[in-house]
Amino acid sequence: MGPVEGPGGLRLELLYEVPGLPAYALPEALARVYGGTLGFPEHRLFGNFVASIDGVVAMHREDRSPGSTIGGDSEADRFVMGLLRACAEAVLVGAGTLRAAPGHRWTPEHAHPAGAPAFAELRRRLGLAPAPRLVVVTGRGELDPSHPGLEAGGLVLAGAVGGARLRGRLPAATSLVVLGEGMELDGARLLEALRAEGHRVVLTEGGPHLLGSLLGAGGLDELFLTVSPRLVGRGPGAARLGLVEGGRPDLRPPAQARLLGLRRHGSHLFIRYELEGAAA
Ligand SMILES: NC(=O)c1ccc[n+]([C@@H]2O[C@H](COP(=O)([O-])OP(=O)(O)OC[C@H]3O[C@@H](n4cnc5c(N)ncnc54)[C@H](OP(=O)(O)O)[C@@H]3O)[C@@H](O)[C@H]2O)c1
Repeated sequence: MGPVEGPGGLRLELLYEVPGLPAYALPEALARVYGGTLGFPEHRLFGNFVASIDGVVAMHREDRSPGSTIGGDSEADRFVMGLLRACAEAVLVGAGTLRAAPGHRWTPEHAHPAGAPAFAELRRRLGLAPAPRLVVVTGRGELDPSHPGLEAGGLVLAGAVGGARLRGRLPAATSLVVLGEGMELDGARLLEALRAEGHRVVLTEGGPHLLGSLLGAGGLDELFLTVSPRLVGRGPGAARLGLVEGGRPDLRPPAQARLLGLRRHGSHLFIRYELEGAAA
């Protein structure tokens, strides 16, 4: 695989796609890189994760040396992340994901700066605000109110303890909604809160504990999964997180998924699944 220079030089190879998927009018610069079809029904909660071949999504900070992230700093992965953010009204993350990325902004251009003009054009075509709204879920309210991700305005969905802790401390443009008494917010309440805020097409970037809650509530419609060509390993001495952690697996049998699409760039695979029972 040769060097990749940005949206102009980058191409994902389309290996499979089911016919009849909803299709947005992607700007040419995005259509050329992604290939095939991308679009969502009117109401959709879709996830985007990168996992190693053996299903690990997070390593401890002390495990990491430069270049040893799960995604292997793949430009194609960052492009897909940007493209999916560009399609979303809101990006939903758990407080653990926010805490793990102190300088991050959950915008399309932060994931893939070279795609910024085309991402902005796509949002204009879809009638979306210039940036997706960041929605953060926290039970305990253990988050930094000055995190740059919240600067431009966002929404924090908190438990009672977290709500009390954060009240009056968040940036003026960020709203706080208290959803429950306990620390663990019910996935169904989270989904209701998103609907009440008028968000219809929502991307979740996890992490694994939030994904567990959403799956437990049967709320996840689609999963975009990048398989990074790495074997990371897990074990008693290396308690690394898998794609889904915690939640209430007793609420639902294992969720079944159907393949919607498969792309490749180098040795990275980009898989699009629909979860059984997804809203039409
Ligand atoms: N590979 C990938 O694609 C990917 C994607 C995302 C994250 N990650 C990695 O995953 C790691 C973080 O994992 P994580 O599972 O801790 O992330 P997480 O799900 O984002 O965060 C867990 C925290 O979020 C809050 N939370 C989530 N669901 C909740 C619920 N139903 N009710 C109340 N609070 C809820 C809680 O915050 P409080 O503790 O504040 O109560 C909980 O401790 C990081 O290393 C991150 O980089 C990887």
